[in-house]
Amino acid sequence: MHSRQSLFKKKKQKKWPYIVSGTILGLLVAAIVTWIGINDWNINESLASLGLTNKTEEMTTEEKEKDMIDEQEAEEPTKEEQVVEPPVVEEPEVDMSGANGYIGHETLPMEPTYFQGVLIASKKYPLPSTFDPGESKDARAAFEEMAAEAKLSGFDLVAFSTYRSFEYQTTLYQRYVSNDGQEEADRYSARPGYSEHQTGLAFDIGEQHFEQHFARESFGETEAGKWVAANAHHYGFIMRYPKEKEKITGYMYEPWHFRYVGKQLAGEIYEAGTTLEEYLDI
Ligand code: DAL
Ligand code: ZN
Repeated sequence: MHSRQSLFKKKKQKKWPYIVSGTILGLLVAAIVTWIGINDWNINESLASLGLTNKTEEMTTEEKEKDMIDEQEAEEPTKEEQVVEPPVVEEPEVDMSGANGYIGHETLPMEPTYFQGVLIASKKYPLPSTFDPGESKDARAAFEEMAAEAKLSGFDLVAFSTYRSFEYQTTLYQRYVSNDGQEEADRYSARPGYSEHQTGLAFDIGEQHFEQHFARESFGETEAGKWVAANAHHYGFIMRYPKEKEKITGYMYEPWHFRYVGKQLAGEIYEAGTTLEEYLDI
């Protein structure tokens, strides 16, 4: 026989297993729901991520194809991406003005440099110290021809400086450096070995009786200076250091300094409106 109290006790003891198993079941369901939720409510994905199924085996043919296309697209750039060219890296422009032009060219060579048959003397391409051809006969003849023609227009041209030896250029340059300092001198006077006057092909031109314009920018403003600038190429001369080209030629504007290159080349350079450096791409 059971007393009321013992019955109650028995009933009370039987509730625990239900509470415990109910709680475990609840937690399990919550965990499963959360896990499926994490995998975007995709049961296959959820099972696959637990290692319970093979994802690709369970994919339909359509899904497999889509999956392959997705993978290919991830690997291959789109057409738009393919046509994008890498940016063109332009070489930095070398500033030849002042002393900069001499950088990397401080040593005089054993032989003079020619480009397309044209003898070059510049801050980049110096001459051997022993190079002493004297004044060019062709250049002198061309100058005389030009001077005769200029006279018909009323201009009495004179070449006040032509061939200069290495030694004479040394004296000149040192004098300019003493007067103006090296930084300024390098803008208008070549260091020994670097002067075009040493080639015998450079002529500094002025007008007789107008010495105040000799080796001055003001020569370019005179009628005689304008005539030479406009006509020198017919006789084979080019203005070697034009205005605003200092960074290319290495020297400031010299409307009096002409270089003999022959009629054909002088005509081509004049028409192109370029410097010798630009024309020869040197
Ligand atoms: N005046 C020119 C640059 C020379 O000295 O050769
Ligand atoms: Zn000169």
